Amino acid sequence: MIRRRLLLGHPARLGLAWKANSADLVLPARSYFRGTTVSKLPRAFSTTTSSRLRDFFPQTETKLIRKTPSAWPHKGWTDEQMLSVQVGHREPNNVGDWIAWRLIRLARWFMDKATGLSTNQQVDKKNPTTAVLAEKPLTEAQWLVRFVFLESIAGVPGMVAGMLRHLHSLRRMKRDQGWIETLLEESFNERMHLLTFLKMCEPGWFMRLMILGAQGVFFNSMFLSYLVSPRICHRFVGYLEEEAVHTYTRCIREMELGATPKWNDPNFRIPDIAVEYWNIPEGKRTMKNLLLYIRADEAVHRGVNHTLSNLNQKEDPNPFVSIYKDGGKPEAASKTVGFERSEVI
Ligand SMILES: [Fe+2]
Ligand SMILES: [Fe+2]
Repeated sequence: MIRRRLLLGHPARLGLAWKANSADLVLPARSYFRGTTVSKLPRAFSTTTSSRLRDFFPQTETKLIRKTPSAWPHKGWTDEQMLSVQVGHREPNNVGDWIAWRLIRLARWFMDKATGLSTNQQVDKKNPTTAVLAEKPLTEAQWLVRFVFLESIAGVPGMVAGMLRHLHSLRRMKRDQGWIETLLEESFNERMHLLTFLKMCEPGWFMRLMILGAQGVFFNSMFLSYLVSPRICHRFVGYLEEEAVHTYTRCIREMELGATPKWNDPNFRIPDIAVEYWNIPEGKRTMKNLLLYIRADEAVHRGVNHTLSNLNQKEDPNPFVSIYKDGGKPEAASKTVGFERSEVI
């Protein structure tokens, strides 16, 4: 084993840097792919020297406060729930669905280009949402770039939708029937995903610029689109979450195949923020398990948003916080295509 900076190609352009965490900096002498030695790889992954790496959102120490717990504690996942998550795709069946789906495909194409995925790292293009097999796996650095970018985007729509429904309720003097809390909680959950990954790497200026630009464009377009058609927006998020489940499923699979030696190392420590938020028990604090937790969250967002898109946006209560006459409860994660209105209202 040697201790050195990870040298990689494309992610360097995005300016991500590994954090100076002892486990993070341990690399095998030879990289995983094609027997290339680390030193032969073309450019430094980090744009920041290790001496300048820092914890850029450390816990604030004050004289009086011991701890600031999360306002929305996570309900946790059982192994069975996490392992039962399926990759799935809802076929577009009207023009709105089709628009949402094409926009997601376009975003995916852009993301693949921006993160420098080679052709042999892409999955079967004929079956884009359900395929998780590619000729060549992604590196840990490439995964982190995708996760950070994806999560920084994924935290936006829930907040926009929650905010607009909140304002709608105020100005129309009408009840919202439980949508706002679920939508805001979704964006909170996405932000926890992002903060978790940010504890493993530090984005450089280029990545920050990309996130800034993407947020500016995405927030404003989501804001205007939600005013015009909340139904299409929820479908769009449903498709975005399909992509998220797909992405984490592929990563978990490649981890199982040994493509991510650093994360597979038994000494690799997942961030404390994640352990606390998901309440991950001792002995299960592995990277693979962390991705299983996150993937289960994404499966919930997928089911929730596809379902919300199927409802009457103005009148229907939110099924996921409602109490049913027969005592039942719809489980969003289990329904890859969401519930039809007739099933839950
Ligand atoms: Fe997420
Ligand atoms: Fe999500």
